[in-house]
Amino acid sequence: MARLAFVAALSLASLAFAQTIDGTEATEETVAPAVEEVDADAASSGVDYFSFEASQLTVDVITNLTNYNLSDVALFDFDDADTAVEKRATRVCKTYPTDKAWPARPIWDLLNILLGGALIEGVPAAAPCYSNWPQYDETKCATITSEWETPSYQLSEPLGIQYYVFEGVSCLPPTLTRTGATCTLGGMPSYVVKATNVAQIQLAVNFARNLNLRLIVKNKGHDFKAKSTGAGALSIWTNALSSIQFLGSTYTHRPSGYKGPAFKIGSGVQALALYEAADNLGLHIVGGNTRTVGIGGGYTAGGGHSPLMSMYGMAADQVLSMEVVLPNGKFVSVDETNNPDLFFALRGGGGSTWGIVTSLVIAAYPKKPVSTLAYSFGIGGDITQDAFWSGIDAVFAKFPEYADKGMYSYWSVACFFDCSFAMAPQWGNNMDAAALKTLSQPLFDELSALGIEVTDAVYTDYDGVISAIDGTWPAASESGGVWNFNTASRLFPRSNWEDATKLAAQTAALRTAVEAAGMILGYNVKAATNSALNQTNAVNPAWRNTLLHAMLGATWSQEATPEDIAAANKNLVEMMQPWRDASPGAGAYLNEADINEPDWQQAFYGSNYAYLYQLKQKYDPWGLMWAPTAVGSEDWYITGQIDYYPTQNGKLCPQ
Ligand SMILES: Cc1cc2nc3c(=O)[nH]c(=O)nc-3n(C[C@H](O)[C@H](O)[C@H](O)COP(=O)(O)OP(=O)(O)OC[C@H]3O[C@@H](n4cnc5c(N)ncnc54)[C@H](O)[C@@H]3O)c2cc1C
Ligand SMILES: *[C@@H]1O[C@H](CO)[C@@H](O)[C@H](O)[C@H]1NC(C)=O
Ligand SMILES: *[C@@H]1O[C@H](CO)[C@@H](O)[C@H](O)[C@H]1NC(C)=O
Ligand SMILES: *[C@@H]1O[C@H](CO)[C@@H](O)[C@H](O)[C@H]1NC(C)=O
Repeated sequence: MARLAFVAALSLASLAFAQTIDGTEATEETVAPAVEEVDADAASSGVDYFSFEASQLTVDVITNLTNYNLSDVALFDFDDADTAVEKRATRVCKTYPTDKAWPARPIWDLLNILLGGALIEGVPAAAPCYSNWPQYDETKCATITSEWETPSYQLSEPLGIQYYVFEGVSCLPPTLTRTGATCTLGGMPSYVVKATNVAQIQLAVNFARNLNLRLIVKNKGHDFKAKSTGAGALSIWTNALSSIQFLGSTYTHRPSGYKGPAFKIGSGVQALALYEAADNLGLHIVGGNTRTVGIGGGYTAGGGHSPLMSMYGMAADQVLSMEVVLPNGKFVSVDETNNPDLFFALRGGGGSTWGIVTSLVIAAYPKKPVSTLAYSFGIGGDITQDAFWSGIDAVFAKFPEYADKGMYSYWSVACFFDCSFAMAPQWGNNMDAAALKTLSQPLFDELSALGIEVTDAVYTDYDGVISAIDGTWPAASESGGVWNFNTASRLFPRSNWEDATKLAAQTAALRTAVEAAGMILGYNVKAATNSALNQTNAVNPAWRNTLLHAMLGATWSQEATPEDIAAANKNLVEMMQPWRDASPGAGAYLNEADINEPDWQQAFYGSNYAYLYQLKQKYDPWGLMWAPTAVGSEDWYITGQIDYYPTQNGKLCPQ
């Protein structure tokens, strides 16, 4: 069986022509989708493939393609990372739609045939709102506008993302953006593969790599830093990979020694679906605090904080094994014994970097009751500014105790007028209201001694995670599609609580920020140690010591210009400096951090960065997978960016 030569560069000249050597056109009738059904139990992880994973692109399929006399078979073939290392030196800008080398229409048509019709041409979701697009339709525009700011709308759209700012705000419904805004494809992809099987992902990976196209991966599109969008890109859309399988309550994972309940999930599973599946079985899983975020995409890849993390560890810690399409196009199992270095990197080392995850096996836990406590206090009446900040000190001083009791405390301070504090809420796992009340009483006594009488405390008992989420964050409160804010993050270490001077400096830094910015919010949690799991992974080491993930934001008006946005973002970087100074050597949570974070390699990946960078070269010497602030992303840049407003609306070029 002859190995097909790597001929991307050579075949470019032929791209404008017919797909078969003898000049006939490839059609659905003459060419079948490029897929082979393999045995489900062939997975080396020991857990059967999902049926969508048994549909693969194999070397035999590629060999078969030559039977069709296709002139461009090599565009779809695998590559060998070993032979690609030397190609690093010859990296050039990713081929852009306006470039001569951009594949001609017949080539995209051929790709679509081989994909079994899964290729979608990139059209901005809001195109019906603009008369220069063929999709123009005012009635449709009205519907789109009314749904635009719901995360469920954005995640169901091939090009939809939650935060358009770093995409470049290229096409939003007119009433939700600047006056006189236009609609271009901008920082959105040219083509999308709506993946429903592994073969399609492999084909897209091979095609993009062989043709030097920009490749992106979008799951739910929730990323704050536009990591799931990009101009001139081919996008792999994983949203439909939503299978859920319960592996039983005594699932045994030999490599790690884990024995207990576990799920195998497609990487496109939405949190709510998995919460419900687990709840029906009397189980909990570690997920985020909203319904629409993915579990198996960027969330787990970036670490994943959770209302249950102070009990069981982070989302990335829960992973027992994964199935992954690598940048070379091969489909592999990943765990302690199969590709252990990738197993390290894929758990915390960030999305869109190492490969495209198609499924994960994750641990689950018995369902336990949850009790929440919400309360607030603020400056005014008898409460002076000094008393208020002493009250904040009293609350913060409890953070080690709360986290060590397995709790999750979500709070905010707002200083738009006089400052006020809200615990919104504190979440006691495996606790009832009586237990939470006993635990909270000493704090309320201390506040009382400071002259702060908390009168609005509300305790609520829930039977588990879903009802607690429903009671705390109603579905209607989730929003998406917005472009007028940006957030920054800091992970404050436990050592700050062990030294009164450091703790005071930390509070002073938080206070300076909130008095300048108007609002901060924070999660008092810890990444619990869980002896049943392998926690040796790429999760930012700063998480292992943290007691507080705090966030600060920048906002701008609907009429803001790119220069206004850049200025607000620059200001955010500067406002964060006291937080960095109050937590030297710590870091930020990469999934909720600022795209402009200085020294992001250290802040997002800590001491793992050098090793992760090395792994990136090993598995992706082509630089195929790229996203802003992903490991190795510093080797590339986007053309046309302005300082502090880096958008995805430009060419991706090597540094
Ligand atoms: C409303 C809301 C609530 C949130 N709540 C929480 C929370 O409670 N806890 C928390 O930790 N975070 C939370 N986040 C942040 C969240 O973790 C990040 O936004 C994360 O990037 C979302 O991942 P996604 O797959 O849903 O999004 P996407 O934007 O689709 O993907 C994010 C990144 O992962 C990559 N990626 C996606 N799927 C794959 C895959 N299968 N293989 C390889 N790479 C992939 C993408 O290319 C991109 O780089 C929240 C965000 C929002 C908007
Ligand atoms: C290869 O082609 C033959 C003939 O069309 C077909 O029967 C076989 O299933 C194909 N094999 C693969 C792996 O695609
Ligand atoms: C492939 O091309 C050869 C030579 O032009 C031709 O004889 C043969 O019939 C073609 N096969 C198919 C499947 O089109
Ligand atoms: C945990 O995973 C890491 C990374 O894959 C691996 O190096 C290590 O050996 C594993 N630990 C155990 C106890 O299996």
